[in-house]
Amino acid sequence: MSSLLIRNGNIVTATDNYTADVLIQDEKVVTIGQQLDNHADQSIDASDCYLFPGGIDAHTHMELPFMGTYSSDTFESGTLAGLHGGTTSIIDFAIQDQGDSLESAIQAWHGKADGHAVSDYAFHCAVTDFNENTRKEIPRIINEHGINSFKTFMAYKGALMIDDRQMFELMKELVIHGGIITSHCENGDMIDHQVQTFIAEGKTEPRYHVLSRPAICEAEASGRVIDLAWQAGCPNYIVHLTCDEALERVRSATQRNQKVYVETCIQYLLLDESLYFQDGFEGAKVVMSPPLRTKADQEALWSGIEQNLIHHVATDHCPFCMAQKEMGKDNFAQIPNGAPGIEHRMELLYSEGVNKGRISLNKFVDLSSTAAAKIFGLFPRKGTIAVGSDADIVVFDPSVRHTISADTHHMNCDYSAYEGWEVQGKTRTCILRGAVAVDQGQSLIGRGFGQYLPRKPFDPHL
Ligand code: URP
Ligand code: ZN
Ligand code: ZN
Repeated sequence: MSSLLIRNGNIVTATDNYTADVLIQDEKVVTIGQQLDNHADQSIDASDCYLFPGGIDAHTHMELPFMGTYSSDTFESGTLAGLHGGTTSIIDFAIQDQGDSLESAIQAWHGKADGHAVSDYAFHCAVTDFNENTRKEIPRIINEHGINSFKTFMAYKGALMIDDRQMFELMKELVIHGGIITSHCENGDMIDHQVQTFIAEGKTEPRYHVLSRPAICEAEASGRVIDLAWQAGCPNYIVHLTCDEALERVRSATQRNQKVYVETCIQYLLLDESLYFQDGFEGAKVVMSPPLRTKADQEALWSGIEQNLIHHVATDHCPFCMAQKEMGKDNFAQIPNGAPGIEHRMELLYSEGVNKGRISLNKFVDLSSTAAAKIFGLFPRKGTIAVGSDADIVVFDPSVRHTISADTHHMNCDYSAYEGWEVQGKTRTCILRGAVAVDQGQSLIGRGFGQYLPRKPFDPHL
């Protein structure tokens, strides 16, 4: 049995903030108290540091086959990068091939992650083709695979997009078995038309990515999925919401007492659409869907957080190196969509959120960890620091200032959208299930340490 004592840390959960010692035995927190006199194999002095629950990033894509290539982080490289920034669990997307089963998508994702991931991991199941066979698979996916969340893409026409009838039928099935629908909300038909029009006019630069996917595309699809979920009685979660108009659809749903869970991503809070209008091919670095929006949208998102309309800040980590981005040098529609983010999500959210007075420490923990654990059936094993929970703990030093750069990050990507950003506060030590995973920038665990996390059915009362 191995033990670890963390002394004198300022423990912050989604509701509490106090100074205490934390005793860990094997993988779990066993005691929290003042000046514990237990002997432990190892001890850490966390004076002047916060102890946060390990971060959960509920939206990542490792080794995603997409747009003629693969996202450039493996489960090994991407999860290790996450640990450097305090993220101890991810939820990635096992995506069905149209015409194939959900089961085989899940097996394929296990093949990439099992024995490779360094942090813990779970899967959402992305349904791209809902039919009588997939319908029969749903109870097994929820009860045997421990996957309670099912993703639908309302965009990427001709590839991942699903129609409304299939989506509605899926929702009705999920209600029966304890699932939650999660959706990428953009009107795929509208976008398809606009992309083809721009290309026919010879408008091929990265800026046409954002011009072909205006906020109204996202707002329309968000409103549509909210209405379908209301009619089906199905819990729903909107992934990577970016803009005021879409948030308005969420706000108005709350007036009929509909609970809509909402995720935004760190880039939508911090970066804006002007990046698409830079010279040359620079804008390709932030070609992602939905695209970055205006500064006014950023403010709307921060307000949405304040008003409890937004519950989780993820990354949609989906990196491509510049050589991959160049597949779209002559046609913006062929630039692989996605950007790196997992490593700096927590530090950026702390620095730009807590440090700049936009959110409280408790809100920071809720947004980066607790709410996702609750919505996706991982709580209280994950998402808090409490006796009996997994000892996933971030020792975070708020006094350290550092600069983000692709030269020093651990993600397998040759650029950072935050190159040169100064950040206040840094993960000093990251502990995963009682093991010191990263300390002062040194990786102390490696490939295969991560465990698969089966999840409980959706609980509307958490
Ligand atoms: O641009 C993005 N977001 N790429 C990953 C796939 C998705 O839509 O989440
Ligand atoms: Zn998406
Ligand atoms: Zn995504």
